[in-house]
This record gives sequence, structure tokens and C-alpha cells, in this order.
Amino acid sequence: MVMADILEIIQQRRSMRVPFSPNRPMSKENLRKILEAARWAPTAHNMQNFEVLVVDDKGILEKIGNIKSRVSEAFIRENYQQLSFSEEELLQKKVGILGTNFPPDWRDPAKLDKAVRECSPSPLNQRIGGSPVLLIVIYDSRKRAPASEGDVLGFISLGCVMQNMWLMAQSLGISVHILSVFSGETVEKEVKRILKVPEYMKIAFAIRLGYPVSKQARHLRVRRDIEMFTHHNGYGKKGLR
Ligand SMILES: Cc1cc2nc3c(=O)[nH]c(=O)nc-3n(C[C@H](O)[C@H](O)[C@H](O)COP(=O)(O)O)c2cc1C
Repeated sequence: MVMADILEIIQQRRSMRVPFSPNRPMSKENLRKILEAARWAPTAHNMQNFEVLVVDDKGILEKIGNIKSRVSEAFIRENYQQLSFSEEELLQKKVGILGTNFPPDWRDPAKLDKAVRECSPSPLNQRIGGSPVLLIVIYDSRKRAPASEGDVLGFISLGCVMQNMWLMAQSLGISVHILSVFSGETVEKEVKRILKVPEYMKIAFAIRLGYPVSKQARHLRVRRDIEMFTHHNGYGKKGLR
């Protein structure tokens, strides 16, 4: 493997928010490779502060899919701040996401209160239905990386685990969808009950793995230019000179 291959995999990695085929199970060999990638993730103090719950039992997946949760007020309001309202705007901003991915009321500041009021609980199945396997990454909330306030270093480590698994999956042609909703209070409590996870273990995030039933509609992906986030030899000296 050469550098160009790595950059290609990094650039091709993307969030797949379409349904995955229930009839294409994940091979144990591929799952092992993804777990091997997690295994070698860098973590603060090499604490390896993660455990991975692999869920591919149809009955358990169904139970998890039946959990209902509602989108929080904080999410609806703060999500709004990240939206662009046209491809042109997103292309110019280069950060955030396109508003058309969300319900109309979520995109109109005058209707955000209404959106919050009317947001009713929906089953997780709407997002994970059909996915042949979920990986749920958990960590021990009683520990932290040495002297790390709020265990920031521990959370960065969990991010490294996420990225390692995501890039491995990408290289194997397996689609990935991150599900932060699993770390929300309601879902976390129910998932922990179903999977008999000890109280002190917290869910960091879940990953839905699979093969899409249909192509994901083309959507604009933007990133800032290197010059926009690089400061060379002093803050404000933008770019790599
Ligand atoms: C920590 C973290 C949490 C995320 N949570 C979610 C999520 O809950 N749902 C989702 O659809 N995407 C989630 N994403 C994916 C991001 O929205 C996505 O990576 C970003 O918009 C860039 O798009 P791309 O992955 O297609 O490049 C998450 C990503 C990260 C790193």
C-alpha cells in the first residue's frame, strides 16, 4: 500500500444514511478485520479504553430497533446553526451540512419552537432497520486518562477507534453509518438493559455496518481548504508557507 491509497480511502470514506440489505450478512472475516483496526487504534496512555459490543442476532437487533426516542430540543436548535440552505451557500461556507436533509420546520427559524413541540418519539428501526450488524462502542465511565479533565483524552481515543474502524470498513467496501443517538439517555438505558451492560459502562457511539440496498443520492460534501485551518509558525499566519 502506498500513501496515495491511504489518502484515497480517507477521501472516499463517507456516511451512508441509506438502508442496508438484511440479506447480506457481514462475514466474520470482515468483522474481525474491523475489530483488528479498532485494536490497533492509538489511545491515551495506551489505556485501550473501549469495549465493542457486536450485535448481529436478528432478535436482539429487532429489540433495539423497537426502542423509541425523540430528538432533543438542543439537537434541533443547534443543528439549525450548522445548516446551509443551498448548495451554493454550503460550497462557500465549506463547513456544516445541507438543510434539505432535514424536515422543513427544522430549517425555518420561525418554526423551530413548533418543531421542538411536535417532535414525537420514533423507533430506532427507522434508522437501523435491516442493518445486519451493529457495533456499539462502550467505555468505563469510572476511569479517565491520567489527569485529563473531563477525560478529553479518553474521548479523543474513542474517536481514533471510530476512525480506524471506519477506514477499515471503507477499504473492504462496507458501508458505515455512525449513530450518536445510542449515547443519548433514553436509547443508552434501553440498549444497556437489552445487552446486560453494567451500569458504569457508557455508550460512546454505535456504528451500523452493511451493504446499501440502493445507491445513496448524490449529495454535496465540502471541506475547508488547508489554508483555512493551517497557521504556519504563529496563529493567524494562515496557510503552509
Ligand atoms: C463523533 C461523530 C458523531 C457522528 N454522529 C452522527 C450521527 O449520529 N448520525 C449521522 O448520520 N452521522 C453522524 N456522524 C457523521 C457526520 O455527520 C459526518 O461524518 C460529516 O457530516 C461528514 O460527512 P461524511 O462522513 O460523509 O464525510 C458523526 C460523525 C462523528 C465523527
